[in-house]
Amino acid sequence: MKEKEVLLSVRNLDVNFGTKRKPFHAVKNVSFDIYKGETFGLVGESGSGKTTIGRAILRIHPASGGEILYKGERISGKISKEMDKKVVSEIQMIFQDPMSSLNERAKVNYIVSEGTYNTKKELSARQRQLLVDQALLDVGLLPEFSSRFPHEFSGGQRQRIGIARSLIMEPEFIVADEPISALDVSIRAQVLNLMSKLQKERGLTYLFIAHDLSVMRFISDRIAVISKGQLVELAESEDLFKNPLHPYTKALLSVVPQPDPESEKNKEILIYDPSQHDYSTDPPVWEEVAPGHFVLGNQKELEEYRKELEA
Ligand SMILES: Nc1ncnc2c1ncn2[C@@H]1O[C@H](COP(=O)(O)OP(=O)(O)OP(=O)(O)O)[C@@H](O)[C@H]1O
Ligand SMILES: [Mg+2]
Repeated sequence: MKEKEVLLSVRNLDVNFGTKRKPFHAVKNVSFDIYKGETFGLVGESGSGKTTIGRAILRIHPASGGEILYKGERISGKISKEMDKKVVSEIQMIFQDPMSSLNERAKVNYIVSEGTYNTKKELSARQRQLLVDQALLDVGLLPEFSSRFPHEFSGGQRQRIGIARSLIMEPEFIVADEPISALDVSIRAQVLNLMSKLQKERGLTYLFIAHDLSVMRFISDRIAVISKGQLVELAESEDLFKNPLHPYTKALLSVVPQPDPESEKNKEILIYDPSQHDYSTDPPVWEEVAPGHFVLGNQKELEEYRKELEA
Protein backbone atom coordinates (compact mmCIF):
# COMPACT_ATOMS: atom_id res chain seq x y z
CA MET A 1 0.00 0.00 0.00
CA LYS A 2 1.15 3.52 -0.76
CA GLU A 3 2.37 5.42 2.27
CA LYS A 4 0.06 8.33 3.02
CA GLU A 5 1.70 11.69 2.70
CA VAL A 6 1.35 13.99 5.69
CA LEU A 7 0.44 17.51 4.53
CA LEU A 8 -0.10 19.20 7.87
CA SER A 9 1.12 18.29 11.34
CA VAL A 10 -0.12 19.86 14.52
CA ARG A 11 2.22 18.94 17.36
CA ASN A 12 1.47 19.54 21.02
CA LEU A 13 -0.29 22.78 20.14
CA ASP A 14 -1.26 25.15 22.94
CA VAL A 15 -3.11 28.39 22.32
CA ASN A 16 -3.63 30.72 25.26
CA PHE A 17 -5.70 33.86 25.46
CA GLY A 18 -5.79 36.38 28.26
CA THR A 19 -2.61 37.53 29.92
CA LYS A 20 0.60 35.74 30.90
CA ARG A 21 -0.39 36.00 34.55
CA LYS A 22 -3.95 34.90 33.94
CA PRO A 23 -3.95 32.79 30.80
CA PHE A 24 -7.00 31.06 29.41
CA HIS A 25 -6.01 27.75 27.79
CA ALA A 26 -8.24 27.54 24.71
CA VAL A 27 -6.22 24.72 23.07
CA LYS A 28 -4.24 22.26 25.15
CA ASN A 29 -1.51 19.93 23.86
CA VAL A 30 -3.32 19.05 20.63
CA SER A 31 -1.57 16.74 18.15
CA PHE A 32 -2.76 15.33 14.83
CA ASP A 33 -1.60 14.80 11.24
CA ILE A 34 -3.66 15.53 8.15
CA TYR A 35 -2.91 13.50 5.02
CA LYS A 36 -2.78 14.98 1.57
CA GLY A 37 -6.13 14.71 -0.21
CA GLU A 38 -8.21 13.70 2.80
CA THR A 39 -11.04 15.41 4.63
CA PHE A 40 -10.15 15.57 8.28
CA GLY A 41 -13.15 16.31 10.48
CA LEU A 42 -12.83 18.22 13.75
CA VAL A 43 -15.91 18.06 15.92
CA GLY A 44 -16.78 19.34 19.38
CA GLU A 45 -19.21 21.54 21.26
CA SER A 46 -19.29 25.32 21.09
CA GLY A 47 -16.23 26.89 22.70
CA SER A 48 -14.15 23.70 22.56
CA GLY A 49 -11.37 25.35 20.52
CA LYS A 50 -12.10 24.27 16.92
CA THR A 51 -11.92 27.71 15.31
CA THR A 52 -8.89 28.56 17.42
CA ILE A 53 -7.02 25.57 15.97
CA GLY A 54 -8.03 26.61 12.43
CA ARG A 55 -6.90 30.15 13.07
CA ALA A 56 -3.60 28.98 14.55
CA ILE A 57 -2.95 27.02 11.33
CA LEU A 58 -3.62 30.19 9.33
CA ARG A 59 -1.25 32.10 11.63
CA ILE A 60 -4.05 34.39 12.82
CA HIS A 61 -3.48 33.22 16.41
CA PRO A 62 0.09 32.57 17.56
CA ALA A 63 0.87 29.16 19.07
CA SER A 64 1.66 29.50 22.77
CA GLY A 65 3.30 26.08 22.74
CA GLY A 66 4.03 23.25 20.32
CA GLU A 67 4.30 23.73 16.58
CA ILE A 68 2.54 23.39 13.25
CA LEU A 69 4.30 21.91 10.22
CA TYR A 70 3.13 22.22 6.61
CA LYS A 71 4.83 19.92 4.09
CA GLY A 72 7.38 19.19 6.79
CA GLU A 73 8.27 22.84 7.42
CA ARG A 74 7.36 24.81 10.51
CA ILE A 75 4.74 27.48 9.84
CA SER A 76 4.06 28.53 13.45
CA GLY A 77 6.16 31.14 15.22
CA LYS A 78 8.65 33.26 13.31
CA ILE A 79 8.98 32.17 9.69
CA SER A 80 10.70 33.47 6.56
CA LYS A 81 9.01 35.83 4.10
CA GLU A 82 8.92 33.13 1.42
CA MET A 83 7.31 30.66 3.80
CA ASP A 84 4.76 33.27 4.82
CA LYS A 85 3.89 33.89 1.18
CA LYS A 86 3.50 30.17 0.62
CA VAL A 87 1.17 29.79 3.61
CA VAL A 88 -0.89 32.79 2.55
CA SER A 89 -1.63 31.34 -0.87
CA GLU A 90 -1.67 27.59 -0.23
CA ILE A 91 -3.73 27.57 2.97
CA GLN A 92 -7.17 29.13 2.84
CA MET A 93 -10.16 29.36 5.16
CA ILE A 94 -13.89 29.19 4.50
CA PHE A 95 -16.00 30.75 7.23
CA GLN A 96 -19.09 29.73 9.09
CA ASP A 97 -21.28 32.73 8.52
CA PRO A 98 -21.46 33.88 4.92
CA MET A 99 -23.70 36.77 6.03
CA SER A 100 -20.94 38.44 8.05
CA SER A 101 -17.71 37.16 6.50
CA LEU A 102 -17.94 39.18 3.28
CA ASN A 103 -17.10 42.87 3.12
CA GLU A 104 -20.48 44.51 2.48
CA ARG A 105 -19.05 47.64 0.90
CA ALA A 106 -16.94 45.83 -1.69
CA LYS A 107 -18.14 44.37 -4.96
CA VAL A 108 -17.87 40.62 -5.55
CA ASN A 109 -15.09 41.28 -8.01
CA TYR A 110 -12.88 42.82 -5.31
CA ILE A 111 -13.93 40.35 -2.60
CA VAL A 112 -12.96 37.38 -4.74
CA SER A 113 -9.70 38.81 -6.05
CA GLU A 114 -8.49 40.49 -2.85
CA GLY A 115 -5.86 37.84 -2.01
CA THR A 116 -4.28 38.05 -5.47
CA TYR A 117 -3.28 41.69 -4.95
CA ASN A 118 -0.69 40.27 -2.59
CA THR A 119 0.40 37.10 -4.34
CA LYS A 120 -0.04 38.13 -7.98
CA LYS A 121 0.84 41.80 -7.99
CA GLU A 122 1.90 41.77 -11.65
CA LEU A 123 -1.57 41.00 -13.07
CA SER A 124 -3.33 43.58 -15.22
CA ALA A 125 -6.91 44.54 -14.36
CA ARG A 126 -8.11 42.46 -17.29
CA GLN A 127 -6.12 39.38 -16.23
CA ARG A 128 -7.38 39.67 -12.67
CA GLN A 129 -10.95 39.94 -13.91
CA LEU A 130 -10.48 36.76 -15.94
CA LEU A 131 -9.34 34.93 -12.80
CA VAL A 132 -12.42 36.20 -10.95
CA ASP A 133 -14.71 35.09 -13.77
CA GLN A 134 -13.16 31.62 -13.72
CA ALA A 135 -13.38 31.35 -9.92
CA LEU A 136 -17.06 32.31 -10.04
CA LEU A 137 -17.73 29.72 -12.75
CA ASP A 138 -15.86 27.11 -10.70
CA VAL A 139 -18.31 27.57 -7.83
CA GLY A 140 -21.38 27.63 -10.05
CA LEU A 141 -21.93 31.40 -10.19
CA LEU A 142 -22.14 33.69 -13.21
CA PRO A 143 -19.24 36.01 -14.05
CA GLU A 144 -21.83 38.82 -14.36
CA PHE A 145 -22.17 38.71 -10.57
CA SER A 146 -18.76 40.38 -10.35
CA SER A 147 -20.13 43.90 -10.26
CA ARG A 148 -22.72 43.23 -7.58
CA PHE A 149 -22.59 43.66 -3.82
CA PRO A 150 -22.85 40.84 -1.25
CA HIS A 151 -26.30 41.91 -0.01
CA GLU A 152 -27.75 40.98 -3.39
CA PHE A 153 -27.07 37.28 -2.75
CA SER A 154 -28.64 34.44 -0.76
CA GLY A 155 -26.75 32.61 1.99
CA GLY A 156 -25.79 29.75 -0.30
CA GLN A 157 -24.58 32.09 -3.02
CA ARG A 158 -22.59 34.07 -0.50
CA GLN A 159 -20.92 30.90 0.72
CA ARG A 160 -20.02 30.15 -2.92
CA ILE A 161 -18.46 33.61 -3.17
CA GLY A 162 -16.44 32.77 -0.06
CA ILE A 163 -15.28 29.54 -1.70
CA ALA A 164 -14.39 31.38 -4.95
CA ARG A 165 -12.36 33.79 -2.87
CA SER A 166 -10.20 30.93 -1.59
CA LEU A 167 -10.07 29.01 -4.89
CA ILE A 168 -8.59 31.97 -6.75
CA MET A 169 -5.48 31.51 -4.58
CA GLU A 170 -5.06 27.95 -5.92
CA PRO A 171 -4.92 26.52 -2.41
CA GLU A 172 -3.83 23.02 -1.46
CA PHE A 173 -5.28 23.03 2.02
CA ILE A 174 -8.58 24.54 3.14
CA VAL A 175 -9.82 25.03 6.68
CA ALA A 176 -13.60 24.93 6.32
CA ASP A 177 -14.98 26.29 9.60
CA GLU A 178 -18.59 25.08 9.85
CA PRO A 179 -19.17 26.07 6.22
CA ILE A 180 -22.76 24.86 6.13
CA SER A 181 -24.10 25.37 9.68
CA ALA A 182 -25.49 28.83 8.93
CA LEU A 183 -27.19 27.73 5.69
CA ASP A 184 -30.74 26.56 5.07
CA VAL A 185 -30.97 22.79 5.26
CA SER A 186 -32.07 22.67 1.62
CA ILE A 187 -28.85 24.18 0.33
CA ARG A 188 -26.39 22.50 2.67
CA ALA A 189 -26.05 19.49 0.41
CA GLN A 190 -25.33 21.71 -2.60
CA VAL A 191 -22.42 23.37 -0.85
CA LEU A 192 -21.11 20.02 0.41
CA ASN A 193 -21.33 18.56 -3.09
CA LEU A 194 -19.49 21.54 -4.51
CA MET A 195 -16.73 21.14 -1.93
CA SER A 196 -16.39 17.46 -2.66
CA LYS A 197 -16.31 18.06 -6.43
CA LEU A 198 -13.57 20.66 -6.01
CA GLN A 199 -11.65 18.29 -3.79
CA LYS A 200 -11.72 15.53 -6.41
CA GLU A 201 -10.81 17.84 -9.28
CA ARG A 202 -7.96 19.60 -7.49
CA GLY A 203 -6.74 17.09 -4.94
CA LEU A 204 -7.60 19.51 -2.14
CA THR A 205 -7.13 18.64 1.51
CA TYR A 206 -9.77 19.82 3.98
CA LEU A 207 -9.88 20.41 7.69
CA PHE A 208 -13.64 20.36 8.13
CA ILE A 209 -14.96 21.80 11.38
CA ALA A 210 -18.44 21.04 12.71
CA HIS A 211 -20.12 20.83 16.08
CA ASP A 212 -22.06 17.64 15.58
CA LEU A 213 -21.27 14.32 14.02
CA SER A 214 -24.26 13.94 11.71
CA VAL A 215 -22.71 15.17 8.43
CA MET A 216 -19.20 14.20 9.42
CA ARG A 217 -19.57 10.52 8.67
CA PHE A 218 -20.31 11.17 5.01
CA ILE A 219 -17.66 13.72 4.29
CA SER A 220 -14.73 12.93 6.58
CA ASP A 221 -12.11 10.25 6.10
CA ARG A 222 -11.03 10.63 9.69
CA ILE A 223 -12.57 12.45 12.61
CA ALA A 224 -11.02 14.08 15.67
CA VAL A 225 -13.22 14.88 18.66
CA ILE A 226 -12.35 17.85 20.84
CA SER A 227 -13.65 18.82 24.27
CA LYS A 228 -12.57 21.86 26.29
CA GLY A 229 -9.44 22.46 24.22
CA GLN A 230 -8.22 18.85 24.26
CA LEU A 231 -8.57 16.10 21.69
CA VAL A 232 -10.31 13.16 23.30
CA GLU A 233 -10.46 10.75 20.35
CA LEU A 234 -9.30 10.37 16.74
CA ALA A 235 -10.05 7.56 14.31
CA GLU A 236 -11.13 6.73 10.79
CA SER A 237 -14.76 7.79 10.41
CA GLU A 238 -16.23 4.30 10.18
CA ASP A 239 -14.12 3.17 13.08
CA LEU A 240 -15.21 6.09 15.23
CA PHE A 241 -18.88 5.40 14.52
CA LYS A 242 -18.51 1.66 15.14
CA ASN A 243 -16.14 1.71 18.08
CA PRO A 244 -16.38 5.00 19.96
CA LEU A 245 -14.35 4.76 23.16
CA HIS A 246 -14.30 8.08 24.96
CA PRO A 247 -17.52 8.91 26.86
CA TYR A 248 -17.66 12.32 25.18
CA THR A 249 -17.58 10.72 21.71
CA LYS A 250 -20.31 8.33 22.83
CA ALA A 251 -22.41 11.25 24.00
CA LEU A 252 -21.96 13.09 20.68
CA LEU A 253 -22.92 9.95 18.80
CA SER A 254 -26.00 9.38 20.90
CA VAL A 255 -27.58 12.56 19.52
CA VAL A 256 -26.91 11.79 15.84
CA PRO A 257 -30.28 11.12 14.18
CA GLN A 258 -30.77 7.50 13.13
CA PRO A 259 -32.17 6.71 9.69
CA ASP A 260 -34.26 3.89 11.14
CA PRO A 261 -37.33 5.25 13.00
CA GLU A 262 -37.43 2.26 15.35
CA SER A 263 -33.87 2.73 16.62
CA GLU A 264 -34.43 6.51 16.65
CA LYS A 265 -37.37 6.07 19.02
CA ASN A 266 -35.53 3.70 21.33
CA LYS A 267 -32.21 5.42 21.45
CA GLU A 268 -30.80 6.66 24.67
CA ILE A 269 -29.22 10.10 24.78
CA LEU A 270 -26.03 10.01 26.79
CA ILE A 271 -24.87 12.92 28.88
CA TYR A 272 -21.14 13.43 29.28
CA ASP A 273 -19.93 14.33 32.72
CA PRO A 274 -16.22 15.28 32.73
CA SER A 275 -16.09 14.73 36.51
CA GLN A 276 -16.46 11.00 35.89
CA HIS A 277 -12.72 10.86 35.15
CA ASP A 278 -10.48 10.58 38.17
CA TYR A 279 -7.25 12.13 36.98
CA SER A 280 -5.89 13.12 40.41
CA THR A 281 -3.29 10.35 40.70
CA ASP A 282 -3.38 8.84 37.21
CA PRO A 283 -3.23 11.66 34.63
CA PRO A 284 -4.53 11.18 31.07
CA VAL A 285 -2.31 10.62 28.04
CA TRP A 286 -3.03 10.70 24.29
CA GLU A 287 -2.55 7.10 23.20
CA GLU A 288 -2.91 5.06 20.00
CA VAL A 289 -4.93 2.11 21.32
CA ALA A 290 -5.41 0.47 17.91
CA PRO A 291 -3.83 1.34 14.54
CA GLY A 292 -4.95 4.90 13.74
CA HIS A 293 -7.31 5.02 16.73
CA PHE A 294 -6.21 7.52 19.37
CA VAL A 295 -7.94 8.28 22.65
CA LEU A 296 -7.30 10.40 25.72
CA GLY A 297 -7.33 8.46 28.96
CA ASN A 298 -5.41 7.51 32.07
CA GLN A 299 -3.84 4.06 32.37
CA LYS A 300 -6.94 2.53 33.92
CA GLU A 301 -9.23 3.93 31.22
CA LEU A 302 -6.88 2.97 28.39
CA GLU A 303 -6.91 -0.61 29.63
CA GLU A 304 -10.71 -0.57 29.55
CA TYR A 305 -10.74 0.95 26.07
CA ARG A 306 -8.40 -1.77 24.79
CA LYS A 307 -10.65 -4.43 26.28
CA GLU A 308 -13.67 -2.78 24.69
CA LEU A 309 -12.00 -2.96 21.28
CA GLU A 310 -11.19 -6.65 21.74
CA ALA A 311 -14.74 -7.53 22.77
N1 LIG B 1 -9.65 36.11 20.44
C1 LIG B 1 -10.02 35.52 21.58
N2 LIG B 1 -9.76 36.08 22.78
C2 LIG B 1 -10.11 35.48 23.93
N3 LIG B 1 -10.74 34.29 24.00
C3 LIG B 1 -11.03 33.70 22.86
C4 LIG B 1 -10.70 34.26 21.57
N4 LIG B 1 -11.10 33.43 20.60
C5 LIG B 1 -11.67 32.39 21.23
N5 LIG B 1 -11.63 32.54 22.58
C6 LIG B 1 -12.14 31.57 23.58
O1 LIG B 1 -11.50 30.33 23.32
C7 LIG B 1 -12.41 29.25 23.47
C8 LIG B 1 -12.47 28.46 22.18
O2 LIG B 1 -13.09 29.26 21.19
P1 LIG B 1 -13.34 28.77 19.71
O3 LIG B 1 -13.90 29.91 18.96
O4 LIG B 1 -12.08 28.16 19.19
O5 LIG B 1 -14.42 27.63 19.91
P2 LIG B 1 -15.21 26.78 18.81
O6 LIG B 1 -14.98 25.36 19.14
O7 LIG B 1 -14.84 27.25 17.45
O8 LIG B 1 -16.72 27.15 19.15
P3 LIG B 1 -17.98 27.39 18.18
O9 LIG B 1 -18.53 26.03 17.88
O10 LIG B 1 -18.92 28.19 19.03
O11 LIG B 1 -17.51 28.13 16.96
C9 LIG B 1 -13.74 29.86 23.88
O12 LIG B 1 -13.85 29.80 25.28
C10 LIG B 1 -13.62 31.30 23.41
O13 LIG B 1 -14.40 32.15 24.20
MG1 LIG C 1 -15.91 28.12 15.92
